[in-house]
Amino acid sequence: AHQWRGVIREYADRLPTLAGAPVVTLREGGTPLIPAEKLSERVGAEVHLKYEGLNPTGSFKDRGMTTAISVAAKKGAKAVICASTGNTSASAAAYATKAGMACAVLVPDGKIAMGKLSQAIAHGATLLQVEGNFDDCLTVARKLAEAYPVELVNSVNPARIEGQKTAAFEVVDALGDAPDIHCLPVGNAGNITAYWRGYCEYSSDPAVSQQPGPASRLPRMWGFQAAGAAPLVLGHPIDHPETIATAIRIGNPASWRQAIAARDESGGRIAAVTDEQILEAHRFLSAEEGVFVEPGSAASVAGLLESHRAGLVPPGARIVCTVTGHGLKDPQWALRTADGSEVTPVRVPADAYPAARALGLED
Ligand code: F0G
Repeated sequence: AHQWRGVIREYADRLPTLAGAPVVTLREGGTPLIPAEKLSERVGAEVHLKYEGLNPTGSFKDRGMTTAISVAAKKGAKAVICASTGNTSASAAAYATKAGMACAVLVPDGKIAMGKLSQAIAHGATLLQVEGNFDDCLTVARKLAEAYPVELVNSVNPARIEGQKTAAFEVVDALGDAPDIHCLPVGNAGNITAYWRGYCEYSSDPAVSQQPGPASRLPRMWGFQAAGAAPLVLGHPIDHPETIATAIRIGNPASWRQAIAARDESGGRIAAVTDEQILEAHRFLSAEEGVFVEPGSAASVAGLLESHRAGLVPPGARIVCTVTGHGLKDPQWALRTADGSEVTPVRVPADAYPAARALGLED
């Protein structure tokens, strides 16, 4: 009769701001940390994948949405709003439904994956396709939340970061200590902020350290942006961010300052990966590790592979890559080969012999 209870109940003692709030949960969190043997071999380190695609709506956003919607419920909110490249809207729509609230989502016109769009609509959100990019959507959402009785549930809402920090707790709980390096895709920069907070809070708690030695181990935070949407790498906002990884197609991250702090305080780095590198990592994860992710999620692994090529991965280091969203969110990329040509399934009549021939079992 044991079931994972969701991040608010599992980590209640570490989420003081949630005390007294009604718990709105779909039992998010508790996601697997998967040893990645092929990737480990390739980079000469011990790599694990934190597979966040296995959350209820298929992305890590659920960790922050259970907390944001629970706090909104405590305040008596009847409606929530968010800007999104897709996953936040899917998550907000599902958790608002669970809480009996209305949900409005603003998404960049034509630039969100079909799976995510379908989720928001299936859960009854009111969806506006804004003629602009994510950054424009967030500006509008903030103005609406200021002027009207709707709660903003983007990661500028402090409850979001609180919930998302639980992923770092789970990593430490699973490994018995923090990894040496933690790799993440970076878009609006809420998640790198949340992980860093989680690691810092856990490491400063002597009750947590299961290892002998100092309780203060912390990972280096390695964040990766898409090359066409890499404001943190370039040091200035980008007016027209472009990448096939629509989840992280963001030109002016809201948690800019916190992301830079996470990088600098951890002795980490934030670097760019090309769309080609992202798709290469996406294929590697599917074909070599059995883990299907959306392209934006593969940026963490693309970044690790690039860092390895640059000689930056210490041999034998323990590394966690968060893969943030499920491959089924944006499945079209799996149907293309490395050279960009389309994959078409082989057709056979409903007979064993031609099927056997097509499979190479007969010649
Ligand atoms: N990976 C995925 C799959 C995402 O959906 C996002 C962000 C990120 C990584 C980057 O995380 O913004 O905390 O740095 N998606 C947001 C959304 C922007 O609207 O769904 P971040």
